Formats: sequence, structure tokens, C-alpha cells
Amino acid sequence: MASNRGFQKKLLTWFKQNKRDLPWRRTRDPYLIWISEVMLQQTQVKTVLPYYERFVARFPDLQSLSQASESEVVAAWSGLGYYSRARNLHRAARAIVANGPGFPKEFSAILQLPGIGRYTAGAIASIAFGARYPVVDGNVRRFLSRYFGRALDESECWPIAQSLLPERNAGDFNQALMEIGATICKPDDPLCLLCPLSEGCQTKGRPLPGLRKSVPAVRQNMAMLALRKKEKFWMEDRGPEPELLRNLWCFPMQLGAEPADALARRLLARFGVRRAKQVGHFTHSIMKYRFQISLLSAAARGGTAGKGAWVHPRDFQEYPHSSLVKKAMRLVQNQ
Ligand code: ADE
Repeated sequence: MASNRGFQKKLLTWFKQNKRDLPWRRTRDPYLIWISEVMLQQTQVKTVLPYYERFVARFPDLQSLSQASESEVVAAWSGLGYYSRARNLHRAARAIVANGPGFPKEFSAILQLPGIGRYTAGAIASIAFGARYPVVDGNVRRFLSRYFGRALDESECWPIAQSLLPERNAGDFNQALMEIGATICKPDDPLCLLCPLSEGCQTKGRPLPGLRKSVPAVRQNMAMLALRKKEKFWMEDRGPEPELLRNLWCFPMQLGAEPADALARRLLARFGVRRAKQVGHFTHSIMKYRFQISLLSAAARGGTAGKGAWVHPRDFQEYPHSSLVKKAMRLVQNQ
């Protein structure tokens, strides 16, 4: 391996010349960096960008976030997935404002906040405050494994990432490691010719046994019903129980391994609907699941049951919802 200093220099120079121009890289405001890092957990940069812009326009600082209701915050998160992230952001903003003054600067205090683990605390402490804490995400783990020629567990990566950190510029260094993992040392086709660290790399593009490929998705069927009364649609609040789409507003749905037809029949029976129109089929992934969705629409006949509301598409944004329902709403409106 090149000396740490050589490694640091090559990586930091590469980052300076190649880093993506991202809005959260134009600030040192810990609040904005926090929002971006939480959004970037499990979510790619290109997906995050429009959400980040909208979210920080709506909640530009700790005060505005802490004064909003949880439902407003989750509604602004609608479509990004992993909604506990939004609920934790809101709880953390209230805790920070209550404890005052301002965003905590110490790694240990940042780590205490709801929804913040070692990764996010390290990212905020290093990027916003220049503190020497490492970060390890999936991209960093893959890069380090290939560079050192051994499939590393996440727990093995932390001390390695710590030992590689330069005296100064820990924030840039951390971002550079994540960036090289995301854009050069990609899972299936690493771009070794463009890599500034290929010289010292132990694998140089050769497959590394034991480096886990992505896990295949669990396939499930889903029937979904857009039940219409005049201009409005029946939307249900799923409440706190289900594993999926917890506390989010959705069109009524029926999930299972059964064929879509059987699911649709059960769903229609729940609402006493005899005739429904097939709007279309689409797929959607949530966490480990890949859903094949059959979307139906029907005019409401009798009553509705459970916790829900008749919602005009115009007001839909104000209800916390998943991008799954956004897709369905678009299909229904275009039919
Ligand atoms: N992934 C998560 N946070 C990141 C950052 N700050 N830079 C690059 N990739 C990231």
C-alpha cells in the first residue's frame, strides 16, 4: 500500500477535481448537512436532489423544522422512503431547540440525537465541524474491501477508515471515499482506469469472492383500488402496525403472494364494489420487496370503513404518502 499520506493526497486531489457540485457541498451549516446526510442514507444522490431542495426551502432551519407538525414533515418527505427518517428528524429538531443553543458540535452529543448513528454523526462532525471522525457506508466498505483485497465486514472498516484519515480535511476525505465508491468503484463495473488509487489496489477490477452482491428482491403482488366519489378518492391512514408504509396515507390495497386477480376480488369485496375498471399495472420497490401492482378504479357505492378520508388530488401533497401512491395517482388521473 502507498503510505497513508500518498493515499490521502491522491484521493483528495481526485475529489477536488471531480467532485459533483451538490447543494449541500456549498455550505457548512450543520443543519443543512444533517438533512442531506439523513436523506442520503439508503438513497442515491440523484433521487435526493429535488427532495433536498424542496425540503430546505420549506424548512430552512432548526426553528422552522421544530415548529412544524410531524405530519407536515413526513408529507414533505413523501416519496423518499424510510419515513422513520423524517419522524426522527422532526423529533431531533425539537430536542435540539429545547436544549439550545444551536446544533450540537460534539460528536458524542450529535450521536445522542434520534435517528443518528455512527455514520451520520461522523459525517456531520467531519463535514460541518472538521472533526476527525470516519464514515463508513456501503460504498466505502466496497472500496476498502477491493483496495485491501479482502471482503471486509462493516465493523472491520471503521478502524481502517479511522487510520486513513488525514490530520486536516477529514470532511473532504470522508466525502471523497464515499464519492469514489459511488462513482468509480461501482458494484458491478468498477471504472479502474479512472481511479486515482488503482496503483495500490489489491484487486484492480478482479472479482473479490465474498463481497456480497445485491440481495435479490422478494416479489409480491398487490391490488390497489382508487375508489372515487365525484372528484375525490378514498385514502386510508395505515396506522402504526404494518411493516410497510406505516403511518402513511394510501389507496386501499391488498397484499400477498396470491395472484393479482384473487387479491383484487378480496379488495373489491371489502368495499362492496362489483364492477371495477383495470387502470394498469406497474412495479414498485420498497426496502427488500418488489411489488407487482394491479391498479383498479371504481365509483364508490356504499360506505367506507376504517380510518380514512375523501381526498381531492389537489390536496394530496398534504398527506404523508409513498411514491408508490404518487405513481398510482398519476395513472388514475391520466386514464
Ligand atoms: N453519500 C452520503 N453522503 C455523502 C456525501 N456527503 N458525499 C458523497 N456521498 C455521500
